[in-house]
Amino acid sequence: MDQLNLLYQWWQEVNQTTTVGAILTSLIVFSFCLLYLFNLTRNKGLNFPPSPPKLPIIGNLHQIGARLHHSLRNLSDKYGTIMLLHLGHTPFLIVSSAEIAKEIFFKTQDAFLYRPQTRAARALFYACCDIAFCPFGDYWRQVRKICVQELLSQRRVQAFQFVREVEVANMIEKIRDSSLSGDAVNFTQMFAVISNNVIFRSALGRAYEEETNKSFSELSRSAMDLIGYFCFEDLFPFLGWLDNLTGLTAKLKTTSGEIRSFLDQMIGKREILNSSDDESDEKDLLDILLHLQKDGSLEIGITRENIKAILLDMFVGGTDNTATTLEWAMAELVKNPSEMRKVQAEVRRVVGKKSKVEENDVNQMEYLKCVVKETMRLHVPAMITRATIASTMLQGYDVPPKTIVLINAWAIQRDPKLWDRPEEFVPERFLNSSVDFTGQHSQFFPFGAGRRGCPGISLAIAEIEYVLANLLYWFDWQLPDGARGEDLDMSDVYRLLIRRKVPLRLVPVSRF
Ligand code: HEM
Repeated sequence: MDQLNLLYQWWQEVNQTTTVGAILTSLIVFSFCLLYLFNLTRNKGLNFPPSPPKLPIIGNLHQIGARLHHSLRNLSDKYGTIMLLHLGHTPFLIVSSAEIAKEIFFKTQDAFLYRPQTRAARALFYACCDIAFCPFGDYWRQVRKICVQELLSQRRVQAFQFVREVEVANMIEKIRDSSLSGDAVNFTQMFAVISNNVIFRSALGRAYEEETNKSFSELSRSAMDLIGYFCFEDLFPFLGWLDNLTGLTAKLKTTSGEIRSFLDQMIGKREILNSSDDESDEKDLLDILLHLQKDGSLEIGITRENIKAILLDMFVGGTDNTATTLEWAMAELVKNPSEMRKVQAEVRRVVGKKSKVEENDVNQMEYLKCVVKETMRLHVPAMITRATIASTMLQGYDVPPKTIVLINAWAIQRDPKLWDRPEEFVPERFLNSSVDFTGQHSQFFPFGAGRRGCPGISLAIAEIEYVLANLLYWFDWQLPDGARGEDLDMSDVYRLLIRRKVPLRLVPVSRF
């Protein structure tokens, strides 16, 4: 992992420059020996899932490479589709089987409905009083209901259609300028901007201003980075104090403070305007949350802290995932020219000679929908992360309490036992099939599934399909310097999400 390298360098510096390094090392080794002996006696007689051999202090950390999803698949090929790793002192249950994943999603009652409350999550999401990190229970039920019925319902997604239209029109205008000058478009940047803008405008609506958004999107990106940062307290709980030395504690404090003050300002301004009384569909997410807080209809009251945490969920959960998916979709289409021709022909036939692609048009674009599904099969952005709080059983194995559960959807969605030609981009496999994004009827679950599955599916898919339809309608696409599609580098990296290693740059050729 990148963070491990940084940590290793930092550790070497401590050792080289001070004798404190030697004292620290002895203390750490001694603590681990005690813990090792304690665990040996405590775990006797339990039937844990198979594990690769581990080292005394770091457990299986040395077997995890920079590309987490690849490392876990390789280990699973050897040790089984359910496997227990120890990264530092923390147990991780790794699942690489569709059948076991579905058992976790749909059949295990409440045991796997928790998330790991990491140090970064606690610091950034107001002690985890958001939706994504809060513990399973009454509070989660209520905020989830707000999210599903009020913030991200089909009706709201349609109400925010105007936001997507304005943002996509701006994007097409910028691309048109590039097509005139013959410059390549950097899709990594462009998709980050549009997915940020769509969520920010939907969440903060009228309070949105280009400048505010820019600085806050940087903050929200820092929050995302900090969630993926190496943290001693998470992996070696009794060494949490080392996070002060690596600088993580200070970074968490600064970033959470800045986010807090930005959101406080936004909420303060809105309270003065009293706009939460507005009943129209043009209310933004902040209006809706303030209205719910005020009207007292909720079983459990929501506080200002809750509102800030929920808004942050939308920014962190709804931007990078969407941008990454868009980038992979365009990369796959450029790499596969016959699929590109097919989808462009469909989009252009449906839109015809209209001056604008309308969101309703997308309903008639069956092949485009297959392209999105196939992209999310091959390039599922996220590892599905859950946690246990108490000991439980799965497939006849004992799962320890406080285990982090990683479902490797990337490996499952490329499993040759489940998919024909698994490594190839074949959108046709989804034609005339009933497979949807809920994960209920298949081995396809890019948004997770079950009670803790992603509530943002409709919003994400509406944005992805509409952006792609526009890019394919208005322009043809070429690689810079006459490179051929089949030579495009499709390597990936794991940085909290499975992203492209090399940013995608394409030259637009306007059709009009
Ligand atoms: C391509 C886009 C997206 C992908 C791939 C994605 C993926 C996921 C995944 C894998 C989970 C965990 C599901 C599980 O544990 O079963 C999740 C949870 C969540 N997502 Fe998304 N997501 C996307 C877009 C969005 C959007 C647009 C929003 C909101 C604006 C959102 C908000 C959330 C929230 C709040 C949760 C936590 C739900 C809970 O714990 O109850 N996501 N997402």
